[in-house]
Amino acid sequence: MGGIAQTFFGGLLLALLFTTASLSPAQTADQAWLGHTLWHDSQIVKYPVHPLGQSVLEQTAAAELKRGILRLYGVSSVSDDDFGDRIVIGTADEVSRAYPDVAVPINLPQDAYWIAATPSRLGASGHGTHIVVAGGDERGALYGSFALLRFIAESNSVPSKPLTQAPAMPIRWVDEWDNPDGSIERGYAGRSIFFEGGNVREDLAPVAEYGRLLASIGINGLNVNNVNAAPQLLDSDHLKQIARIADALRPWGVHLAMSVAVASPQTIGGLSTYDPLDPAVKAWWTAKTEEIYGLIPDFAGFTVKADSEGQAGPSSYGRTPADAANTLAAALAPHHGVVLYRAFVYNHHLDWHDPKADRARAAYDIFHPLDGQFLPNVIVQTKEGPIDFQAREPVSPLFAGLQHTSQAMEVQITQEYTGQQRHLVYLAPMWKGVLETDLRADNKSTPVKEILEGKSFHQPLGGMVGVAGIGRDRWLASPLALANLYAFGRLAWDPDLDPAQIAEEWTRQTIGSDPQVVSTVDKMLMQSWPAYEAYTGPLGMQTLTDITGSHYGPNIESSERNGWGQWHDADSKGVGKDRSVATGSGFAGQYPPEVAKLYEDPATTPDELLLFFHHVPYTYKLRSGKTVIQHIYDSHYNGAAFAADFVNQWTKLKPHIDPQLYEDVSARLEYQAGHALVWRDAIVQYFLKLSGIPDEHGRAGHYPGRLEAEDARLTGYKVIDVTPWEDASGGKAVSCAEAACSAEWAWSGAAGHYSIAVQYFDLQGGAARFALIVNNQPVANWLADATLPSKRPNGDNSTRHTVFNIDLNPGDIIRIEGIPDGADPAALDYIELERYRTDVPVI
Ligand code: GCU
Repeated sequence: MGGIAQTFFGGLLLALLFTTASLSPAQTADQAWLGHTLWHDSQIVKYPVHPLGQSVLEQTAAAELKRGILRLYGVSSVSDDDFGDRIVIGTADEVSRAYPDVAVPINLPQDAYWIAATPSRLGASGHGTHIVVAGGDERGALYGSFALLRFIAESNSVPSKPLTQAPAMPIRWVDEWDNPDGSIERGYAGRSIFFEGGNVREDLAPVAEYGRLLASIGINGLNVNNVNAAPQLLDSDHLKQIARIADALRPWGVHLAMSVAVASPQTIGGLSTYDPLDPAVKAWWTAKTEEIYGLIPDFAGFTVKADSEGQAGPSSYGRTPADAANTLAAALAPHHGVVLYRAFVYNHHLDWHDPKADRARAAYDIFHPLDGQFLPNVIVQTKEGPIDFQAREPVSPLFAGLQHTSQAMEVQITQEYTGQQRHLVYLAPMWKGVLETDLRADNKSTPVKEILEGKSFHQPLGGMVGVAGIGRDRWLASPLALANLYAFGRLAWDPDLDPAQIAEEWTRQTIGSDPQVVSTVDKMLMQSWPAYEAYTGPLGMQTLTDITGSHYGPNIESSERNGWGQWHDADSKGVGKDRSVATGSGFAGQYPPEVAKLYEDPATTPDELLLFFHHVPYTYKLRSGKTVIQHIYDSHYNGAAFAADFVNQWTKLKPHIDPQLYEDVSARLEYQAGHALVWRDAIVQYFLKLSGIPDEHGRAGHYPGRLEAEDARLTGYKVIDVTPWEDASGGKAVSCAEAACSAEWAWSGAAGHYSIAVQYFDLQGGAARFALIVNNQPVANWLADATLPSKRPNGDNSTRHTVFNIDLNPGDIIRIEGIPDGADPAALDYIELERYRTDVPVI
């Protein structure tokens, strides 16, 4: 394209840029990592941006680069001088046609890019620097633009050497678990950006912004609806609506996919069967697929959850997952679509008396025998671990068990079992651990990442799928949780990346490049998953949460003695599920021999997975030299101490970061530190009671500064049993059924300055009010107005409020007043006093 046309487009893009900016949509990619002014001192701002082609993707690439440069340098315009430096964007073909002298590599693969800064004889004036962004295809050019922006954001410079990158795997998708009514399964960040009231939303501006975020990290597919799929989304009216979502994503190279229910031919198609091998069923899928491609020509494909957690599936007709997947794949193949068939297929009515019964075995038992039977456009999508997104699990053995089938690994970005966006948990180290796990298939090096990349078994369509859970509340509600979405994209692009480096890269772009900010946030992120694991479920016990309800607070026995199969088999003598071949369920034997051998024997099983594979006595000595029970105590105390320290670390950043961000994250970290204590105390008192073995450091069961509500002088408050008992200190709390109640204690400790932590239950359906009163003087009052899971007082909603630096003398009267509101009875667990220290905030 000639200079005039380029200038015209440049102007147009700038105009577009300002129009978009002045509309200022409510939810933008700027709220994540694409919105920050990081530098004020560079020449790069004067580089005009010229797309070589006219495709939507290249226009997006150019507009984004221009917008990004203005933003990074905090300026409002760039020169459009055609005679000096410039940034040129195009496909490799376009670049070599327009600039035959530029050594752009031939055969750049799809989605790949090449960026090079060339001292130029290319400009009309014959001088200046040209930065060339060449894509293997148009989407590659878009990814190249974002990569250049990332480079500038990181270093305030342009690459001095050519930079070539190609994604490691072709499938890089996010799965949204959004329902037509606007709710989101396991979403903790507000309502859907896609749906509301049974239909696609009118306002899809946030969808386009989301597309922008996804493109910036190389995500190329978005599955828009819950895997527990609402069949009506496949009717013609809804498909037309869904086509609007695909339109909004298209400029960002993100292709839309849909979850489909296998029973749809019957439920919405009016057929008498959904048997995947029935010709009428096949014809129905073919016609439906054609209809979809008529509306969405670049439709990516279907995701399938079948024979799982109540979803109908091929087993109703004695058919296999391969039969069902292939019927869909055959319908999609002419249009180049794919099927992601989930291996999350298991029986949730298992007999817990049967030592051979094991949910962990299900995926391998069902899918391994089908290897080789899937059509080439089927990808088996397997969760990272054999259970369900727990704080720690071993890697699914199925990755090594399918050598003739393309595979994608499903991970969760939304923090279902990992703190629901209220706890800081940076998941990249967990994902990285899985990606690097060498399964030793055929006694050769086969790290999971190389299986997904197609290097190990040469399957062409591997990838990673992240269950995103983004909503209307600033994408993931918690500002620091966005590091997870970012890291997911970066690892799917390049699983060799280091999570700490990704964290650093994200922090620089999102929070600031001040060295103290970068190193502190990086450190907090990197410590966060180990801390969470330590205060929830160490040693491979899984998250120890309420698995049949909220999946949030502690509820140890909810996973025992029921059909869901998340047992950890704790009794008075020992703990852990025996999955060995010799004496247990045999799950360990599903791994290739070298790994199976490692997991078969408690002595060679890594400590962090010991109780996933073995039932051992509490006195069993870990490789670390500690007993299991002492490790349980220590780990919970250490984990909670880490959570408390996050507050300290963050506090030090106050002068260096945006005040609103500071306050937002502070409040979340304080909450987390309090909830980590709820977790700690629940698990510790449970295992202390069950095992009868004391904590050698004397902490478990001894809380010197704690004054229980049930021991107080109560006015109006009634003592209640909390369920599960371990979620309240001593198993009991007090609850108010009057207009107002109080609990009163006479202080019998030494005189001094104290912090008083008040542990109460913040229930939904009302905002109870609490007041702390000392010697009839009001000291603090606050509202219990958080939205936490569960309608009854328990570990989901047990919350801590700390009041600092209170003078107390022996005999002083400490009183808590609770005023219930609506369904919130101002329930109270205890107060805890500690000497006030100025160096460490008491949580
Ligand atoms: C988890 C989650 C469910 C979800 C399921 C799935 O069990 O709690 O809400 O439907 O995973 O992945 O299908």
